[in-house]
Order: sequence, then structure tokens, then C-alpha cells
Amino acid sequence: MSRLLIVSNRLPVSVQKRKRKLCFEPSVGGLATGLGAFYKSSDSIWIGWPGIAQERIEGEEKDIEAKLLSESCYPVFFSEHDVEDYYHGFCNKTIWPLFHYFTQYAVYNKDLWQTYERVNQAFADAVVEIAEGSDVIWIHDYHLMLLPKLIREKLPMATIGFFLHIPFPSFEIFRLLPWRKEILDGLLGADLVGFHTYDYTRHFLDSVHRLLGYEAVMGQITTPNHIMKADEFPMGIDYEQFSNAARSRKVRTQISRFRKKLGDCKIILSIDRLDYTKGIPQRLEAFNLFLQKKPRYRGRVVLMLIVVPSRTRVGQYALLKKQIDELVGAINGRYESIGWTPIWYLYRSLPSHSLVAMYSIADVALVTPLRDGMNLVAKEYIATKIEGKGVLVLSETAGAAKELGEAITVNVSCEEEIVQAIEQALIMPEEEQIGRIRVMQERIEHYNVNRWADEFVNKLLCAREVQKEREAKALNYETKKNLVSDFQKGDQRLVLLDYDGTLIPFSEKPKKAIPTSELVELLEELAKDSRNEVVLISGRDKDALGKWFGDLNIGLVAEHGAWIKERSKGWELLEALTSEWKEEMRPICELYVHRTPGSFIEEKEFSLAWHYRKADPRLGALRARELVNDLLNLTGNLNLQVLEGSKVVEVKNAGINKGRAALRWIPREGWDFILAIGDDWTDEDIFKVLPPIAWSIKVGFSASAAKFNLGSPNEVKLLLKEMAEA
Ligand code: UDP
Ligand code: G6P
Repeated sequence: MSRLLIVSNRLPVSVQKRKRKLCFEPSVGGLATGLGAFYKSSDSIWIGWPGIAQERIEGEEKDIEAKLLSESCYPVFFSEHDVEDYYHGFCNKTIWPLFHYFTQYAVYNKDLWQTYERVNQAFADAVVEIAEGSDVIWIHDYHLMLLPKLIREKLPMATIGFFLHIPFPSFEIFRLLPWRKEILDGLLGADLVGFHTYDYTRHFLDSVHRLLGYEAVMGQITTPNHIMKADEFPMGIDYEQFSNAARSRKVRTQISRFRKKLGDCKIILSIDRLDYTKGIPQRLEAFNLFLQKKPRYRGRVVLMLIVVPSRTRVGQYALLKKQIDELVGAINGRYESIGWTPIWYLYRSLPSHSLVAMYSIADVALVTPLRDGMNLVAKEYIATKIEGKGVLVLSETAGAAKELGEAITVNVSCEEEIVQAIEQALIMPEEEQIGRIRVMQERIEHYNVNRWADEFVNKLLCAREVQKEREAKALNYETKKNLVSDFQKGDQRLVLLDYDGTLIPFSEKPKKAIPTSELVELLEELAKDSRNEVVLISGRDKDALGKWFGDLNIGLVAEHGAWIKERSKGWELLEALTSEWKEEMRPICELYVHRTPGSFIEEKEFSLAWHYRKADPRLGALRARELVNDLLNLTGNLNLQVLEGSKVVEVKNAGINKGRAALRWIPREGWDFILAIGDDWTDEDIFKVLPPIAWSIKVGFSASAAKFNLGSPNEVKLLLKEMAEA
């Protein structure tokens, strides 16, 4: 069994200093509590920040380290400056507000970003120092989004998972971030990236597609040197712990104490970290409206408002605290009567038995965040309801709403709706309460935090396997050596090469992808050797190929095989082809040019190609599918073929393909070395007609009939150079 290395900004234990003495306390927040329950039950090590700046604990680092190590926690320390610019700064003044759709609070500052980069590097160094070969590295949350890539650079074969505990916003929001590409690049270093909900996954994949151009297939993204997957895993809680705690004597005693103080008042519970995303002032306003509109509940209902201190050094949080204090004062001042206080307000963290007692005693839990990645409080409330009595009011913008459909869900922008929900909850018949709670309990008991973690780790291991299969096909140092030595031994050597995407990277416009003089010289060098026969098999038109390579002693194939030019001969048509059909197809393609900004038509003698590399990637992909459909309908009775290439849809005469063109050379006698290299699926036709002795290489890593893979045209160039020099 491999070791699990959990990496998060915050350790489950936080160090504080009171009256010059070190105190170790459980950390608050869903990540620490949820994951904290899981990591104790597994063979894990947790790497993270102990929550205090280095300057405040100078000389005491060793004591802290020893204490934390005894709990399998490895501290990463950082300075006051880094706490300010990384934790309070980039994490909580940039990413947190932006990802929660509070764009008006997001600060974009280069210094903060650079500190974020530096601290991520420090975390990467710490992980690399501790990690062993078979470890599973599981990184958590928005503080460490660059870490997957940074670790991958040092440990290319490592198994790396990442889980985001907050929402991933829609593309329109995410694109506002000046360092959006760096963040995505960082995440793509992982083998698996997990989110709480399908929507967050979708938003992430959309941003990757639009900003980096990688399209996902069933959540899988293939980059030039890595395959990774994105998927959703709604985080669970330690159900048993909460449900058992609710039965414990300590909690029962606490409940009796609360009951004595509250008489038979109905209790509405509100528990959150101090955070503007939680909608606390809005909830208070709604409670105010409730008391105003429904006076019969005055004296009969109490709102228990628990606010856990958090991030108070960030300006917005300090303001929020003030706002809550004032609102509580105003509401209590307005409605309080002798023997009844409408809001019981605690601004502190609670010991776990008090928390469970609060959950247990509450008739209604009012969980109405404006935006929340998941919200574990909602699940914990449900788990403590051993008799099934209680009602959860939950905002639809909390990730938990996707799983807890039996709650009363509300749109938090509508105060009236919250008021109605409170009343509906207070008068809900017990039978209905039990019915709803039991269904939710069954669900969260089943998908608890251990199952969540197991499922994530299992999927991570599967994703790693996919990557391993791919690595096995990569033309590594050894296989490359064998290939070159095979080439060296040969007396008659055939080299079949695609052009775009194989010898030269793609450009926005095909006209711009012209060969470098270095490439032309390299082909010339290969062609000079009389033992070599080099053939370029391309989809390009014959004029372009002729202009660039006509003077070289190599074979050329244009328009996917419509035209063939053997060494020192002229161009010949493979067979009699027609092009009248173009008149009929051109208007369709033109229609798609108008409907898809950035797309254009390339006209060849026997084909029409609609290119969309410069178009918006999502729109381009959608229109490509539509165009293929339209063309297929029209070409049904004609002897035509519709091809989908890399960001291009092409219609051409049927029966023409690169494989057929390659067969002009392959069957000739005497080859003792054959190599074919291509990147596109049109090159698959070549791979399929190769004899077993042939070497075949696909540039890129999607599925292919080729035996090996190379990452980029540059790697192809290096291989050809080695061959030329062999
Ligand atoms: N919590 C806590 N101490 C408290 C009150 C709450 O540790 O005094 C815990 C609570 O049990 C829950 C977590 O804080 O597990 C809050 O997680 P949630 O997902 O609801 O919100 P987050 O704070 O992560 O945004
Ligand atoms: C949220 C975040 C966690 C964070 C927690 C508490 O749950 O997703 O990563 O640990 O809030 O916030 P803090 O800033 O105190 O770590």
C-alpha cells in the first residue's frame, strides 16, 4: 500500500501564541475538519502551514516540528511578509473573492502573485524532500494551484491529485484573472483534478479549452506531454462520528443545559466561519423581515448565530464583522422583550460537543451562503438528527444543494423566499421532517468522507495508469537508440513524413506555417544519402509543397494523396478527379465562415477546407460538428468524403487518402527500414498500411495505430537530425 501525502495550506492543527506560550488547536473550516477525520484513519502524512508567522515562533520551530510530527504533520513555515502577501493577499484577496463570484472584492497585484508563486515553490520543495517513489501526493485547495506542475517538474513519474474545495467559476469570471493561464498550467500538472460538483468541473474544462485550446474527451485532457482527468467528487463528512456524538452523554447533558435556558422556544441555527460568501448579513436581514412580517413568532423563536473568527486581517472580513455586530444589535434592540432575546450571538469557535449539541437541538438549520464550494455544516446538521426531526433550509448556490434535494432550497437573493422558507420549516409536520431527513441521511452516510477519499484516490491511480500506458509508448532514449541503429544498418530506407503538426507546429493560418531553412536543410541532408527515399505526405496543395520543397530530391504528396510527385519527376494526378462539386459545397462552407468569427476557407484543387484554429474553441468545435453534419447530408450520393482534421473540416474526393498514396512507395522491393511520422488522424491511414517491420510515430498522445509517440515537431526534428548524422 502506498503512503498518502496530503498537502494543503492549512494543517489540521493550528499553532497559536498566548501569553508567550504555544497552543495547539484544531483548525477550523471544511477542509481541516472533513479531511482531518479521514487522514487519522489512513497511513497519511500531512504537509502544511501551522497558521503562524515564522517571526512569532523564532527559536521554537523545533518544538513545534516535534509536536506536529507526532501527529504525522510536517510544517512548512513562512515569514510575516509571505503570510501577508500569499495567504491574506493572493489567496484571500484575489482567488477567494474571484472564485466565489465577488469580483468587486478581487485585487490584482503583481507582488501578491509573485509571492504566491514563491510560496508554492517552497511547498513543492518540501514535498519533493519528503516524497518517496510510490507515494500518492494529494494537494488541496486554491492556495496551491501551481503545485501540481512544480512537483511534476521535479518528479515526472509521481502520482499527483488535486482537489479544489471552493467553486471553480464560470469562464467569464475566471478570465478576469491576469494569471489565468499560469493557474491552469499549474493544475494540468496533476493526474486527476477533483471538484465538488459537475458544474465546477464543467467550468474548469471550459476554461482549459478556451484559454489553452485543449479539448476534453469524457473529462480527459491530453496535452503535449501529459494526460490528466477532471471529475467531480462531492466531499462527505465523518457521518458516524457526528451521529454517535449526538447520542453521547456529554452532548445530551449539553442539550439539557441549552433547553433549560431556551424554554420551549423553537431554535433556528446559523453556523459559519466569518466570511462574506456565507451571506450572514443577508440572513440577518431576512430574519429581521421574518419577525416584522410574522409577529406571531416573536417570543417563540430564537436565532442562534455562531460566527467562527476567520481571516480578520483581510479588510473585507473586518468590515463584515462590524456589519454583523451592528445588525445583531439593531435586531435585538428592536424586538427584544423581557425574557426573550431574538438572536443569541457567539463570535468564537466551539468545542465539538457543543457544536453537535447545537446541531441536535436546532429545529431549523438556516444554511444560506451566497456561494459555497460544498458546505459541510449542512451535512453535519443532518447527521446529528438521530430521531429524524429537524429541517434544513439550504441555498441553491451551495455545492451541497446538489446532493441534498430534500432540503428546502432557497434563492438567497430573494429575502421573501427565505422568510417563507423559515415559516415552512417551523410548521413542517414531524412526519414530513423525518421523511426528508432520513433520505438525506442515507445518502450522506453512504457517501461519507472515507468513501469520498477512497474514490478519489482510486480514480487517481487509474488516471496514473493511463499516463503510464502513454509513457510506455513514448519514444524514449532506448527505443530512439534502437530506431537510429536500425536506420544505420539499412541500405534501402523509406521515410514517410507528414508536414503540418509533424515537421512544423500549427499556425493560426496555414500560410504562416512555412518551413524554416533549418528544416529544409535537414530534409536535404537526408535526401542526399542515396540509401534514403524521403516522401512528404501532406494535405497541403501542390503549389505550396512545390514552392517549398520542389527543388529537393524527395517525393511529395499533396491534397492527402490527390497529387503525387516522385523524385525528379513532375506532378501527376492519382486518378481522374472532379472538382465541379465545389460549387455546391462552397456556399455551405461560406455560411459557416459568416457564423464563426475567425474561421476561413482554404481552397485546393480537389478539396475545400474550413479552418477554425483562430475561432473561439468551443464555438469552433460546435460549428465543426454542425458543418460535418450538413456536408454529410449533402455528399451522401456524391463520391465525396468529409474529413475532420486538427481544427479543420475538409471535403474532398472519396477514395483519396494518405494511406493509398503511401502505397505508391511501400510495396516496392528491398526496403530494410521504413519510418512513418504523422500527427493527425489523416496520417492514421499511413500507419495502417505499413508492414510489421516499419517504425511508426505519432506526434501527440491521442489514440493511434502508430507504435510510438513523440511530443512535438521539435522532437521530430531532433530525431531526424540524429538519423541524418548517423
Ligand atoms: N466548525 C468548527 N468549529 C466551529 C464551528 C464549525 O470547526 O466552531 C467546522 C464545522 O464542523 C465544519 C466546518 O467548520 O466542518 C465548516 O465547513 P464548511 O464546509 O461548512 O465551510 P468552510 O468554513 O469550509 O467554508
Ligand atoms: C475553506 C477553504 C479551506 C480553508 C478554510 C478555512 O474551507 O476551502 O482551504 O482552510 O476555508 O479558512 P482558513 O483561511 O482559515 O484556512
